[in-house]
Amino acid sequence: MKRRIAILGATGSVGRSTLDLVERSPARFEVVALTARGNVEGLADAAMRTGAKLAVIADEARYDELRDRLEGSGCRAAAGAEGLVEAASGDADWVMAAIVGCAGLVPTMAAIEAGKTVALANKEALVTAGALMMDAAARSGATLLPVDSEHNAIFQCLAGSRREDVSRLVLTASGGPFLGSSLEQMSEATPDQAVAHPRWSMGAKISVDSATLMNKGLELIEAHHLFALPSERIDVVVHPQSVVHSLVEFVDGSMLAQLGSADMRIPIAYTLAWPERMATPSQRLSLTEIGRLDFEAPDLERFPALRLAREALERGEGAAIVLNGANEIAVQAFLEGRIGFCDISRTVERALGEIDASRPRSVEEVVALDGETRDRTSALIAESRP
Ligand SMILES: NC(=O)c1ccc[n+]([C@@H]2O[C@H](COP(=O)([O-])OP(=O)(O)OC[C@H]3O[C@@H](n4cnc5c(N)ncnc54)[C@H](OP(=O)(O)O)[C@@H]3O)[C@@H](O)[C@H]2O)c1
Repeated sequence: MKRRIAILGATGSVGRSTLDLVERSPARFEVVALTARGNVEGLADAAMRTGAKLAVIADEARYDELRDRLEGSGCRAAAGAEGLVEAASGDADWVMAAIVGCAGLVPTMAAIEAGKTVALANKEALVTAGALMMDAAARSGATLLPVDSEHNAIFQCLAGSRREDVSRLVLTASGGPFLGSSLEQMSEATPDQAVAHPRWSMGAKISVDSATLMNKGLELIEAHHLFALPSERIDVVVHPQSVVHSLVEFVDGSMLAQLGSADMRIPIAYTLAWPERMATPSQRLSLTEIGRLDFEAPDLERFPALRLAREALERGEGAAIVLNGANEIAVQAFLEGRIGFCDISRTVERALGEIDASRPRSVEEVVALDGETRDRTSALIAESRP
């Protein structure tokens, strides 16, 4: 039987890589639903190419345009938050959660509550509501498969082992485009420089997060929820070649690592075919061409975002929501030229100091605290402008 696929965030970097794999294996997959925020053209093209039954545009003002483009194609158009939830919880049995930011939380949660197999790329959803998501998956029987290359690597290394045999996880970080830059150089960094990741081709927000190392901080919190380990048993090392995607250390002193080229189609394929594997067109590694693998400790002075994320993880889930929401607003302000690169982490640190965050008991409370964080962080940025 074909696996029925829904892709939330189909027009983004992860969404397009997922479509690439699915379209190469029409005998194995059937696309039932696709979503985007505002990219009507990309969404309608993908829906018509794949024969999707439902296409959802989050921006309701673009609904008429989408409906007109899809006329006569057999694909139904929908819009807004309800449409996203319908795509997530409808006919699909496998859902790719690849919306960027906390905006992906409600539809991702809908897929989990509907008991789907959920490939989780949307790390901000897990950072803000990890405990609620894991509880919901346990209740509904949903299967969560990590897509982030580091967590996917750990997931692969853990296959067939007992949780009590794991002593430590090691997340690798490329170090981003400013690995060798001074603080002075970083304070002058432009959005174009920050988005130009040396190894991975990704959306703008995650590329800036990689440059500040906030991405690794979010991944630390993500790993805590996915693999149920405390902060002190999850380490981060900088590995500029991005060949080793992460490692697991076991109680006997063995370490297992997963290696591969820097191509998201490899971890996505692992989740698409799971528990089997499928072929991908990804470049194969030549160890002799790579020659050497380097590892170093992260510099928390130049990259305070990683320290802030670890502190937020240790403070609790409310602090993680503030960390994430403040970071989303600060990254957007940086991309729009309203604040400097080093102001991103400063803004997040101020927000964490000023917003009182208690543990959320529901998705509604997560959304409320996220909204409050966004308003307060926007005000902090506006106040600090000359
Ligand atoms: N890119 C990677 O290699 C990578 C690796 C690991 C994890 N991730 C994670 O995967 C997620 C997606 O990353 P990405 O790089 O693929 O992002 P991206 O290229 O910016 O794509 C984001 C997708 O989400 C949609 N979207 C954005 N805001 C939305 C909203 N408010 N409501 C509904 N849909 C919205 C976009 O639609 P439009 O195109 O219409 O704006 C697009 O389809 C992020 O959480 C990221 O951290 C990405």
